[in-house]
Amino acid sequence: RRFVSTINTISVSAMDEDNVGTVKQQLAKLCEASLRATVPDESSLEPLVAPCTGKFGDYQCNNAMSLWAKIKGKKTEFKGPPSVGQAIMRNLPQSEMIESCSVAGPGFVNIILSDKWIAKSIQKMLEKGIGIWAPKLPITRAVVDFSSPNIAKEMHVGHLRSTIIGDTLARMFEYSNVEVLRRNHVGDWGTQFGMLIEFLFETFPNWEDAGEQAIGDLQAFYKASKLKFDVDSDFKEKAQQAVVRLQGGDPKYRKAWEQICEISRREFNQVYQRLGVHLEEKGESFYNPYIPGVLEALSNQGLIEESEGARVIFIEGKNIPLIVVKSDGGFNYASTDLTALWYRLNEEKAEWIVYVTDVGQSMHFEMVFSAAKRAGWLPADDKLYPRTSHVGFGLVLGDDGKRFRTRASDVVRLVDLLDEAKSRCKAALVERGKAAEWTAEELEQTAEAIGYGAVKYADLKNNRLTNYTFSFDQMLNDKGNTAVYLLYAHARICSIIRKSGKEIEELKKTGTIVLGHADERALGLHLLQFADIVEEACTNLLPNVLCEYLYNLSEYFTRFYSNCQVVGSAEETSRLLLCEATAVVMRKCFYLLGIEPVYKI
Ligand code: ARG
Repeated sequence: RRFVSTINTISVSAMDEDNVGTVKQQLAKLCEASLRATVPDESSLEPLVAPCTGKFGDYQCNNAMSLWAKIKGKKTEFKGPPSVGQAIMRNLPQSEMIESCSVAGPGFVNIILSDKWIAKSIQKMLEKGIGIWAPKLPITRAVVDFSSPNIAKEMHVGHLRSTIIGDTLARMFEYSNVEVLRRNHVGDWGTQFGMLIEFLFETFPNWEDAGEQAIGDLQAFYKASKLKFDVDSDFKEKAQQAVVRLQGGDPKYRKAWEQICEISRREFNQVYQRLGVHLEEKGESFYNPYIPGVLEALSNQGLIEESEGARVIFIEGKNIPLIVVKSDGGFNYASTDLTALWYRLNEEKAEWIVYVTDVGQSMHFEMVFSAAKRAGWLPADDKLYPRTSHVGFGLVLGDDGKRFRTRASDVVRLVDLLDEAKSRCKAALVERGKAAEWTAEELEQTAEAIGYGAVKYADLKNNRLTNYTFSFDQMLNDKGNTAVYLLYAHARICSIIRKSGKEIEELKKTGTIVLGHADERALGLHLLQFADIVEEACTNLLPNVLCEYLYNLSEYFTRFYSNCQVVGSAEETSRLLLCEATAVVMRKCFYLLGIEPVYKI
């Protein structure tokens, strides 16, 4: 197997010629050419381009210092990092992108982008669609393993977080022309099934005809069967035999198992449907038939050892090994994950496999990934592909700072949670007099879009590693960094355009964007940086980066709108186009965050 680095494959996902990549990627190309001209004898020079931290440019090329360190022993024309920087600047190819350059400090090359080029790029996006701004990622296929609740157990707020974060990551990859296998790795193969199946047989002798209806509330059913399991030793024994029969493929047990899974699935789907999240279920059971073969191969490589009756893989730097066969001969969570990883790499040919769970599972994934490296399935260098990443997230806390619970019971029913968000939004809209203004359907749809959007945004806007506090009052506030505020901001832009009485499709064809005012330029540059941000959010698997961008976008817009008259001004056409571009980019942000936009408010 050959492992590849990021730079070599960057052109793979260039789908069409209009897609030019992000601003950073475009500048990187120019800088790369300059580096080659500056030091023709040096190989493998990766251009280092970043947005400017200071006020002397929009972007900067930061290669001078590291390049100087490489060449200072050799005989060259350069006297130090500044002169290297000067040469990099001189050798930058002519480009309409760049207005001017300067060298600062120890050789940083500051680049100011051309206003004309920024305007032209935005205009082209309006004409061709925002797809042309999709970043180019160095992969063509990824697995995002997310949501993944456990059958018959509660789908809790942790699974909600996983669902929301995973969906956004999948959407960002998809936008970047990466094929995403959206995997629901449901826990459908644990030992709990023996108990559940046996309890089903006992309590509902006619389960084959009426099982699904009879079970009703699966969590209550789970509790009752667990109760029996704990006190009744005959039942316990039967349950243990039931597991063996199920895993051996006995049709009767298989059928009962399918029935139980189906009930859970229906419940999960209610949540997915409300959230507009699409997933493809490949649960733990799917990988079961592949486990023996995978373990045998690992065993042949000499990786599997005996330890206290179990079969294990030792991992460097860890004092406990990864157990792949339990002492009773059964497989576990790790055997399944190791096999699923093998399957994803070899059968599904995924180049990046991303797992979204709470940080509590990071040790498990670290061990599975290390075992895969030992086996040579993955390169030792984490930056090479194929690669795996654990996307961990923190706890959901209640207002009281403790683990999130509802008043009535200790179980938070996710559908109830979403319903409450929606009904609170509806009440707020009614209070604003919208019930009289809108149709019932409009009211319903808007309440849903804002309510569900608020739940998602409140989760996504924080760095996922931190715990986050679930508070309806905060997330439904119409001021501050909330979905409500942002959705209103978008609706207001739409209304500016509507009220102008101008046909925006017509303006797109005939009008020209000119960035004359400083606030216009700032907004324009921020719009153009959308692709940079999506790339960063994908690369670091951090949706909050996109949320921050979106919030800043609404601030840039506000500044522009308060300082530049739009309707009735001499610059009306250009400014309306800028409004439209802002709305388009906002909508794409909403889309990537899984939020339904609102057009009027
Ligand atoms: N079912 C697990 C849980 O609820 C999450 C599974 C995550 N994915 C995986 N491949 N292990 O905690």
